[in-house]
Amino acid sequence: MRTQVAIVGAGPAGLILAGLLHAAGIESVVLEDRSRAYVEARIRAGVLEHGTVELLERAGVADRLHREGIVHGGINLQFDGERHHVPLQELAGGRTIVVYGQTEIVKDLIADRLARGLPLLFEVDDVSVHDFDGDAPFVCFEHEGTRHRLDCDIVVGCDGFHGVCRPAIAEVLRTFEREYPFGWLGILVDAPPSSEELVYAHHPRGFALLSLRSPTRSRLYVQCAPDEDVAEWPDDRVWEELRVRTALPGWSLNEGPVLEKGITGMRSFVAEPMQHGRLFLAGDAAHIVPPTGAKGLNLAAHDVGVLADALVAWYRSGDREQLDAYSDTCLRRVWRAEHFSWWMTSMLHRHPDADGFDERLQLSQLRYVTASHAAAQSLAENYVGL
Ligand code: FAD
Ligand code: DHB
Repeated sequence: MRTQVAIVGAGPAGLILAGLLHAAGIESVVLEDRSRAYVEARIRAGVLEHGTVELLERAGVADRLHREGIVHGGINLQFDGERHHVPLQELAGGRTIVVYGQTEIVKDLIADRLARGLPLLFEVDDVSVHDFDGDAPFVCFEHEGTRHRLDCDIVVGCDGFHGVCRPAIAEVLRTFEREYPFGWLGILVDAPPSSEELVYAHHPRGFALLSLRSPTRSRLYVQCAPDEDVAEWPDDRVWEELRVRTALPGWSLNEGPVLEKGITGMRSFVAEPMQHGRLFLAGDAAHIVPPTGAKGLNLAAHDVGVLADALVAWYRSGDREQLDAYSDTCLRRVWRAEHFSWWMTSMLHRHPDADGFDERLQLSQLRYVTASHAAAQSLAENYVGL
Protein backbone atom coordinates (compact mmCIF):
# COMPACT_ATOMS: atom_id res chain seq x y z
CA MET A 1 0.00 0.00 0.00
CA ARG A 2 1.15 3.53 -0.70
CA THR A 3 -0.24 6.96 0.11
CA GLN A 4 1.02 10.50 0.47
CA VAL A 5 0.15 11.06 4.15
CA ALA A 6 -0.32 8.22 6.67
CA ILE A 7 -2.50 9.37 9.57
CA VAL A 8 -2.53 7.36 12.81
CA GLY A 9 -5.75 7.92 14.81
CA ALA A 10 -9.31 8.81 13.80
CA GLY A 11 -10.13 11.32 16.52
CA PRO A 12 -10.89 14.91 15.57
CA ALA A 13 -7.24 15.67 14.69
CA GLY A 14 -6.79 12.75 12.28
CA LEU A 15 -10.21 13.07 10.68
CA ILE A 16 -10.08 16.85 10.19
CA LEU A 17 -6.56 16.56 8.73
CA ALA A 18 -7.72 13.87 6.29
CA GLY A 19 -10.68 16.09 5.28
CA LEU A 20 -8.49 19.17 4.75
CA LEU A 21 -5.95 17.20 2.72
CA HIS A 22 -8.65 15.66 0.54
CA ALA A 23 -10.11 19.12 -0.11
CA ALA A 24 -6.63 20.15 -1.33
CA GLY A 25 -6.16 17.06 -3.52
CA ILE A 26 -3.70 15.25 -1.22
CA GLU A 27 -4.21 11.54 -0.52
CA SER A 28 -4.14 10.04 2.94
CA VAL A 29 -4.93 6.80 4.74
CA VAL A 30 -6.36 6.96 8.28
CA LEU A 31 -5.65 4.07 10.69
CA GLU A 32 -7.71 3.73 13.88
CA ASP A 33 -7.30 1.02 16.49
CA ARG A 34 -10.87 1.20 17.88
CA SER A 35 -14.14 0.31 16.18
CA ARG A 36 -16.30 2.87 14.38
CA ALA A 37 -19.06 2.39 16.98
CA TYR A 38 -16.64 3.05 19.85
CA VAL A 39 -15.15 6.18 18.31
CA GLU A 40 -18.63 7.56 17.50
CA ALA A 41 -19.94 6.96 21.02
CA ARG A 42 -17.06 8.57 22.93
CA ILE A 43 -18.53 11.65 24.63
CA ARG A 44 -16.04 14.47 25.05
CA ALA A 45 -15.77 18.14 24.16
CA GLY A 46 -18.59 20.42 23.15
CA VAL A 47 -17.32 23.97 22.67
CA LEU A 48 -15.96 25.00 19.26
CA GLU A 49 -14.00 28.15 18.57
CA HIS A 50 -14.75 30.12 15.43
CA GLY A 51 -11.47 28.94 13.88
CA THR A 52 -12.45 25.29 14.41
CA VAL A 53 -15.79 25.90 12.69
CA GLU A 54 -13.92 27.50 9.75
CA LEU A 55 -11.67 24.46 9.40
CA LEU A 56 -14.69 22.15 9.36
CA GLU A 57 -16.17 24.34 6.63
CA ARG A 58 -12.93 24.03 4.65
CA ALA A 59 -13.04 20.26 5.09
CA GLY A 60 -16.60 20.37 3.68
CA VAL A 61 -18.32 18.89 6.73
CA ALA A 62 -20.08 21.81 8.39
CA ASP A 63 -23.66 21.50 7.07
CA ARG A 64 -25.12 19.70 10.10
CA LEU A 65 -22.94 21.78 12.40
CA HIS A 66 -24.54 24.93 10.96
CA ARG A 67 -28.04 23.45 11.30
CA GLU A 68 -27.73 21.95 14.78
CA GLY A 69 -24.84 23.76 16.48
CA ILE A 70 -25.90 26.36 19.04
CA VAL A 71 -24.15 29.72 18.82
CA HIS A 72 -23.30 31.29 22.19
CA GLY A 73 -22.20 34.87 22.75
CA GLY A 74 -21.32 34.48 26.43
CA ILE A 75 -20.67 32.26 29.45
CA ASN A 76 -21.48 32.63 33.14
CA LEU A 77 -19.13 32.50 36.11
CA GLN A 78 -20.79 31.65 39.42
CA PHE A 79 -19.25 32.10 42.87
CA ASP A 80 -20.23 33.31 46.31
CA GLY A 81 -23.93 32.70 45.56
CA GLU A 82 -24.01 34.95 42.47
CA ARG A 83 -23.98 34.26 38.74
CA HIS A 84 -22.12 36.76 36.54
CA HIS A 85 -22.53 36.92 32.79
CA VAL A 86 -19.34 37.35 30.70
CA PRO A 87 -20.39 38.73 27.29
CA LEU A 88 -17.72 37.02 25.17
CA GLN A 89 -18.99 38.33 21.86
CA GLU A 90 -19.03 41.94 23.00
CA LEU A 91 -15.61 41.64 24.66
CA ALA A 92 -13.85 39.68 21.92
CA GLY A 93 -14.55 41.67 18.78
CA GLY A 94 -17.78 39.93 17.81
CA ARG A 95 -16.42 36.38 17.99
CA THR A 96 -18.80 33.65 19.21
CA ILE A 97 -18.45 29.98 20.13
CA VAL A 98 -20.58 27.10 18.88
CA VAL A 99 -21.83 24.30 21.10
CA TYR A 100 -21.73 21.07 19.05
CA GLY A 101 -20.54 17.72 20.41
CA GLN A 102 -17.14 16.34 19.44
CA THR A 103 -18.98 13.05 18.86
CA GLU A 104 -21.12 14.73 16.22
CA ILE A 105 -18.05 16.16 14.46
CA VAL A 106 -16.46 12.72 14.45
CA LYS A 107 -19.66 11.14 13.06
CA ASP A 108 -19.92 13.79 10.33
CA LEU A 109 -16.27 13.37 9.29
CA ILE A 110 -16.42 9.55 9.24
CA ALA A 111 -19.67 9.52 7.23
CA ASP A 112 -18.25 12.00 4.73
CA ARG A 113 -15.00 10.09 4.28
CA LEU A 114 -16.67 6.71 3.85
CA ALA A 115 -19.29 8.17 1.46
CA ARG A 116 -16.42 9.37 -0.74
CA GLY A 117 -14.85 5.91 -0.66
CA LEU A 118 -11.65 7.26 0.95
CA PRO A 119 -9.45 4.98 3.07
CA LEU A 120 -10.24 4.90 6.79
CA LEU A 121 -9.53 1.59 8.52
CA PHE A 122 -10.99 0.78 11.94
CA GLU A 123 -9.82 -1.91 14.37
CA VAL A 124 -6.24 -1.97 13.15
CA ASP A 125 -3.75 -3.61 15.54
CA ASP A 126 -0.12 -3.34 16.35
CA VAL A 127 0.60 -0.03 14.58
CA SER A 128 4.28 0.97 14.35
CA VAL A 129 5.98 3.85 12.54
CA HIS A 130 9.36 3.52 10.77
CA ASP A 131 12.15 5.36 8.91
CA PHE A 132 10.80 8.87 9.44
CA ASP A 133 14.44 10.04 9.74
CA GLY A 134 14.84 9.42 6.00
CA ASP A 135 12.80 10.18 2.87
CA ALA A 136 10.76 6.98 2.77
CA PRO A 137 8.84 6.46 5.99
CA PHE A 138 6.31 3.65 6.43
CA VAL A 139 3.73 2.40 8.88
CA CYS A 140 3.15 -1.26 9.74
CA PHE A 141 -0.13 -2.59 11.11
CA GLU A 142 -2.43 -5.57 11.20
CA HIS A 143 -5.97 -5.43 9.80
CA GLU A 144 -8.47 -8.29 9.61
CA GLY A 145 -5.77 -10.81 10.38
CA THR A 146 -3.27 -9.60 7.75
CA ARG A 147 -0.02 -7.63 8.24
CA HIS A 148 0.31 -4.52 6.07
CA ARG A 149 3.02 -2.03 5.24
CA LEU A 150 1.89 1.46 4.24
CA ASP A 151 4.59 3.48 2.45
CA CYS A 152 4.16 7.23 2.50
CA ASP A 153 5.83 10.66 2.31
CA ILE A 154 4.75 11.83 5.75
CA VAL A 155 3.46 10.17 8.96
CA VAL A 156 1.15 12.15 11.25
CA GLY A 157 0.58 10.94 14.81
CA CYS A 158 -3.00 11.95 15.68
CA ASP A 159 -3.26 9.01 18.07
CA GLY A 160 -4.02 10.85 21.29
CA PHE A 161 -2.17 10.88 24.60
CA HIS A 162 -1.81 7.06 24.81
CA GLY A 163 -0.81 6.49 21.18
CA VAL A 164 2.36 5.00 19.68
CA CYS A 165 3.74 7.96 17.68
CA ARG A 166 4.99 10.17 20.52
CA PRO A 167 6.83 7.25 22.22
CA ALA A 168 8.49 6.50 18.84
CA ILE A 169 10.44 9.78 19.12
CA ALA A 170 10.63 9.96 22.92
CA GLU A 171 14.43 10.37 22.87
CA VAL A 172 14.27 13.69 20.98
CA LEU A 173 11.39 15.17 23.00
CA ARG A 174 11.35 17.40 26.00
CA THR A 175 8.14 17.08 28.00
CA PHE A 176 6.44 19.36 30.51
CA GLU A 177 3.71 18.12 32.83
CA ARG A 178 1.36 18.93 35.73
CA GLU A 179 -1.23 16.67 37.31
CA TYR A 180 -4.14 18.12 39.25
CA PRO A 181 -5.46 16.64 42.48
CA PHE A 182 -9.01 16.38 41.10
CA GLY A 183 -11.04 15.11 38.15
CA TRP A 184 -14.40 15.70 36.50
CA LEU A 185 -17.39 13.44 36.65
CA GLY A 186 -19.51 14.15 33.56
CA ILE A 187 -23.09 13.15 32.80
CA LEU A 188 -25.16 13.41 29.64
CA VAL A 189 -28.80 13.99 30.54
CA ASP A 190 -32.07 13.72 28.66
CA ALA A 191 -33.38 17.08 29.86
CA PRO A 192 -33.37 20.60 28.40
CA PRO A 193 -30.47 22.81 29.52
CA SER A 194 -31.21 24.76 32.72
CA SER A 195 -29.26 27.79 31.57
CA GLU A 196 -29.15 29.27 28.09
CA GLU A 197 -25.37 29.71 28.25
CA LEU A 198 -22.68 27.67 30.05
CA VAL A 199 -22.24 28.11 33.81
CA TYR A 200 -18.79 27.59 35.39
CA ALA A 201 -19.41 27.43 39.14
CA HIS A 202 -16.85 27.77 41.93
CA HIS A 203 -18.22 26.46 45.24
CA PRO A 204 -16.76 25.39 48.60
CA ARG A 205 -17.81 21.80 47.77
CA GLY A 206 -16.02 21.95 44.42
CA PHE A 207 -16.37 23.05 40.83
CA ALA A 208 -19.45 22.38 38.68
CA LEU A 209 -20.17 23.08 35.00
CA LEU A 210 -23.52 23.29 33.25
CA SER A 211 -23.26 22.72 29.52
CA LEU A 212 -25.50 21.28 26.84
CA ARG A 213 -25.61 19.36 23.60
CA SER A 214 -29.00 20.30 22.14
CA PRO A 215 -32.31 21.93 23.17
CA THR A 216 -33.22 18.62 24.88
CA ARG A 217 -29.82 17.36 26.12
CA SER A 218 -27.77 18.70 29.01
CA ARG A 219 -24.10 17.95 29.67
CA LEU A 220 -23.11 18.49 33.31
CA TYR A 221 -19.86 18.09 35.23
CA VAL A 222 -18.85 18.05 38.92
CA GLN A 223 -15.36 18.11 40.39
CA CYS A 224 -14.47 14.80 42.05
CA ALA A 225 -11.30 13.02 43.20
CA PRO A 226 -8.97 12.07 40.29
CA ASP A 227 -8.96 8.33 41.05
CA GLU A 228 -12.61 8.14 42.04
CA ASP A 229 -14.59 5.02 41.13
CA VAL A 230 -17.69 5.97 39.16
CA ALA A 231 -19.62 3.41 41.26
CA GLU A 232 -19.17 5.80 44.21
CA TRP A 233 -21.32 8.30 42.31
CA PRO A 234 -24.90 7.02 41.96
CA ASP A 235 -27.19 9.45 40.11
CA ASP A 236 -28.71 10.81 43.35
CA ARG A 237 -25.29 11.87 44.62
CA VAL A 238 -24.40 13.58 41.33
CA TRP A 239 -27.69 15.50 41.30
CA GLU A 240 -27.31 16.52 44.94
CA GLU A 241 -23.82 17.94 44.30
CA LEU A 242 -24.93 19.68 41.11
CA ARG A 243 -27.93 21.23 42.91
CA VAL A 244 -25.87 22.49 45.84
CA ARG A 245 -22.95 23.81 43.76
CA THR A 246 -25.10 25.68 41.22
CA ALA A 247 -27.95 26.83 43.52
CA LEU A 248 -29.36 30.33 43.04
CA PRO A 249 -32.52 31.86 44.47
CA GLY A 250 -35.39 31.63 41.96
CA TRP A 251 -33.53 29.21 39.65
CA SER A 252 -33.60 25.44 39.49
CA LEU A 253 -31.69 22.69 37.75
CA ASN A 254 -33.58 20.62 35.14
CA GLU A 255 -33.13 16.95 35.93
CA GLY A 256 -33.76 13.89 33.80
CA PRO A 257 -32.54 10.39 32.94
CA VAL A 258 -28.73 10.05 32.95
CA LEU A 259 -27.69 8.60 29.58
CA GLU A 260 -23.94 8.38 30.17
CA LYS A 261 -21.57 8.90 33.09
CA GLY A 262 -17.77 8.98 33.21
CA ILE A 263 -14.76 10.34 35.11
CA THR A 264 -11.87 12.22 33.49
CA GLY A 265 -8.54 12.97 35.16
CA MET A 266 -6.95 16.36 34.60
CA ARG A 267 -3.46 17.06 33.39
CA SER A 268 -1.37 19.62 31.56
CA PHE A 269 1.23 18.15 29.20
CA VAL A 270 3.35 19.41 26.31
CA ALA A 271 5.92 17.54 24.21
CA GLU A 272 8.43 19.65 22.28
CA PRO A 273 9.11 19.69 19.40
CA MET A 274 5.96 18.41 17.71
CA GLN A 275 7.91 16.99 14.77
CA HIS A 276 10.97 14.89 13.98
CA GLY A 277 12.05 14.20 10.41
CA ARG A 278 8.93 13.14 8.53
CA LEU A 279 6.88 12.35 11.64
CA PHE A 280 4.53 15.07 12.90
CA LEU A 281 2.44 14.99 16.09
CA ALA A 282 -0.93 16.75 16.32
CA GLY A 283 -3.60 17.19 19.00
CA ASP A 284 -3.60 15.18 22.24
CA ALA A 285 -0.63 13.14 20.96
CA ALA A 286 1.50 16.25 21.55
CA HIS A 287 -0.32 18.15 24.29
CA ILE A 288 -3.05 17.91 26.91
CA VAL A 289 -4.88 20.69 28.72
CA PRO A 290 -7.26 20.33 31.65
CA PRO A 291 -10.80 20.72 30.21
CA THR A 292 -11.79 23.88 32.08
CA GLY A 293 -10.86 26.24 29.23
CA ALA A 294 -12.55 24.07 26.54
CA LYS A 295 -9.32 24.10 24.53
CA GLY A 296 -8.30 20.47 23.80
CA LEU A 297 -10.35 19.86 20.68
CA ASN A 298 -9.75 23.40 19.42
CA LEU A 299 -5.97 23.02 19.76
CA ALA A 300 -6.12 19.70 17.92
CA ALA A 301 -8.03 21.40 15.09
CA HIS A 302 -5.57 24.31 15.00
CA ASP A 303 -2.55 21.96 14.75
CA VAL A 304 -3.96 20.12 11.76
CA GLY A 305 -5.01 23.38 10.09
CA VAL A 306 -1.37 24.55 10.27
CA LEU A 307 -0.08 21.15 9.12
CA ALA A 308 -2.52 20.93 6.19
CA ASP A 309 -1.43 24.37 4.92
CA ALA A 310 2.23 23.40 5.27
CA LEU A 311 1.73 20.12 3.41
CA VAL A 312 -0.16 21.86 0.62
CA ALA A 313 2.71 24.36 0.21
CA TRP A 314 5.27 21.53 0.22
CA TYR A 315 3.44 19.38 -2.34
CA ARG A 316 2.74 22.38 -4.61
CA SER A 317 6.19 23.96 -4.65
CA GLY A 318 8.59 21.78 -2.72
CA ASP A 319 8.92 24.61 -0.20
CA ARG A 320 9.64 23.13 3.27
CA GLU A 321 9.58 26.40 5.18
CA GLN A 322 6.09 26.02 6.67
CA LEU A 323 6.62 22.32 7.39
CA ASP A 324 9.90 23.07 9.18
CA ALA A 325 8.15 25.78 11.21
CA TYR A 326 5.14 23.55 12.09
CA SER A 327 6.13 22.83 15.70
CA ASP A 328 7.12 26.43 16.50
CA THR A 329 3.93 27.80 14.92
CA CYS A 330 1.70 25.40 16.86
CA LEU A 331 3.55 25.66 20.18
CA ARG A 332 2.89 29.40 20.43
CA ARG A 333 -0.86 28.74 20.51
CA VAL A 334 -0.43 25.57 22.58
CA TRP A 335 1.38 27.41 25.38
CA ARG A 336 -1.19 30.24 25.39
CA ALA A 337 -3.92 27.60 25.78
CA GLU A 338 -1.88 25.76 28.42
CA HIS A 339 -1.66 28.92 30.45
CA PHE A 340 -5.34 29.81 30.04
CA SER A 341 -6.50 26.28 30.90
CA TRP A 342 -4.24 26.08 33.96
CA TRP A 343 -5.45 29.53 35.08
CA MET A 344 -9.18 28.72 34.64
CA THR A 345 -8.65 25.38 36.39
CA SER A 346 -6.77 26.92 39.33
CA MET A 347 -9.29 29.73 39.74
CA LEU A 348 -12.43 27.59 39.63
CA HIS A 349 -11.67 24.32 41.46
CA ARG A 350 -11.49 23.54 45.14
CA HIS A 351 -7.95 22.47 45.96
CA PRO A 352 -7.89 19.59 48.50
CA ASP A 353 -5.18 21.20 50.64
CA ALA A 354 -6.15 24.83 50.15
CA ASP A 355 -6.44 26.98 53.25
CA GLY A 356 -8.45 30.16 53.81
CA PHE A 357 -5.73 32.25 52.17
CA ASP A 358 -5.92 30.29 48.90
CA GLU A 359 -9.71 30.40 48.91
CA ARG A 360 -9.77 34.16 49.37
CA LEU A 361 -7.30 34.61 46.51
CA GLN A 362 -9.56 32.56 44.24
CA LEU A 363 -12.61 34.62 45.18
CA SER A 364 -10.73 37.85 44.72
CA GLN A 365 -9.62 36.75 41.26
CA LEU A 366 -13.17 35.75 40.29
CA ARG A 367 -14.51 39.12 41.48
CA TYR A 368 -11.81 40.91 39.49
CA VAL A 369 -12.52 38.95 36.32
CA THR A 370 -16.22 39.79 36.51
CA ALA A 371 -15.78 43.43 37.60
CA SER A 372 -12.88 44.65 35.46
CA HIS A 373 -13.48 45.20 31.75
CA ALA A 374 -9.81 44.51 30.95
CA ALA A 375 -9.76 41.26 32.94
CA ALA A 376 -13.06 40.05 31.42
CA GLN A 377 -11.76 40.94 27.97
CA SER A 378 -8.64 38.87 28.52
CA LEU A 379 -10.75 35.88 29.58
CA ALA A 380 -13.05 36.38 26.57
CA GLU A 381 -10.19 36.64 24.04
CA ASN A 382 -8.62 33.47 25.35
CA TYR A 383 -11.92 31.59 25.58
CA VAL A 384 -13.03 32.35 22.01
CA GLY A 385 -9.46 31.75 20.79
CA LEU A 386 -8.63 34.94 18.92
P1 FAD B 1 -8.28 11.77 20.41
O1 FAD B 1 -9.66 12.28 20.37
O2 FAD B 1 -7.81 11.11 21.65
O3 FAD B 1 -8.12 10.76 19.19
C1 FAD B 1 -7.02 9.88 19.06
C2 FAD B 1 -7.46 8.66 18.28
O4 FAD B 1 -6.36 7.80 18.06
C3 FAD B 1 -8.49 7.84 19.03
O5 FAD B 1 -9.58 7.57 18.20
C4 FAD B 1 -7.73 6.59 19.45
O6 FAD B 1 -8.58 5.45 19.55
C5 FAD B 1 -6.74 6.48 18.32
N1 FAD B 1 -5.52 5.72 18.65
C6 FAD B 1 -4.84 5.70 19.82
N2 FAD B 1 -3.78 4.88 19.72
C7 FAD B 1 -3.77 4.40 18.46
C8 FAD B 1 -2.93 3.49 17.75
N3 FAD B 1 -1.85 2.94 18.33
N4 FAD B 1 -3.23 3.21 16.47
C9 FAD B 1 -4.30 3.76 15.86
N5 FAD B 1 -5.15 4.61 16.49
C10 FAD B 1 -4.88 4.92 17.76
N6 FAD B 1 -11.70 20.00 24.30
C11 FAD B 1 -12.27 21.17 23.88
O7 FAD B 1 -11.72 21.81 22.98
N7 FAD B 1 -13.43 21.64 24.40
C12 FAD B 1 -14.08 20.97 25.36
O8 FAD B 1 -15.18 21.42 25.74
C13 FAD B 1 -13.50 19.75 25.86
N8 FAD B 1 -14.12 19.04 26.83
C14 FAD B 1 -13.65 17.80 27.16
C15 FAD B 1 -14.35 17.08 28.07
C16 FAD B 1 -13.91 15.81 28.43
C17 FAD B 1 -14.71 15.03 29.43
C18 FAD B 1 -12.73 15.26 27.83
C19 FAD B 1 -12.23 13.87 28.18
C20 FAD B 1 -12.01 16.00 26.93
C21 FAD B 1 -12.45 17.28 26.58
N9 FAD B 1 -11.77 18.05 25.65
C22 FAD B 1 -12.30 19.27 25.27
C23 FAD B 1 -10.54 17.56 25.03
C24 FAD B 1 -10.79 16.93 23.65
O9 FAD B 1 -11.79 15.96 23.74
C25 FAD B 1 -9.49 16.33 23.12
O10 FAD B 1 -8.50 17.31 23.20
C26 FAD B 1 -9.64 15.83 21.68
O11 FAD B 1 -10.32 14.61 21.66
C27 FAD B 1 -8.29 15.66 20.99
O12 FAD B 1 -8.45 15.09 19.73
P2 FAD B 1 -7.33 14.16 19.10
O13 FAD B 1 -7.85 13.74 17.77
O14 FAD B 1 -6.02 14.82 19.21
O15 FAD B 1 -7.23 12.92 20.09
C1 DHB C 1 -17.83 21.28 27.81
C2 DHB C 1 -16.59 20.79 28.18
C3 DHB C 1 -15.65 21.66 28.68
O1 DHB C 1 -14.43 21.20 29.01
C4 DHB C 1 -15.92 23.01 28.83
O2 DHB C 1 -14.98 23.83 29.34
C5 DHB C 1 -17.14 23.49 28.44
C6 DHB C 1 -18.10 22.62 27.94
C7 DHB C 1 -18.83 20.35 27.27
O3 DHB C 1 -18.56 19.14 27.23
O4 DHB C 1 -19.91 20.79 26.88
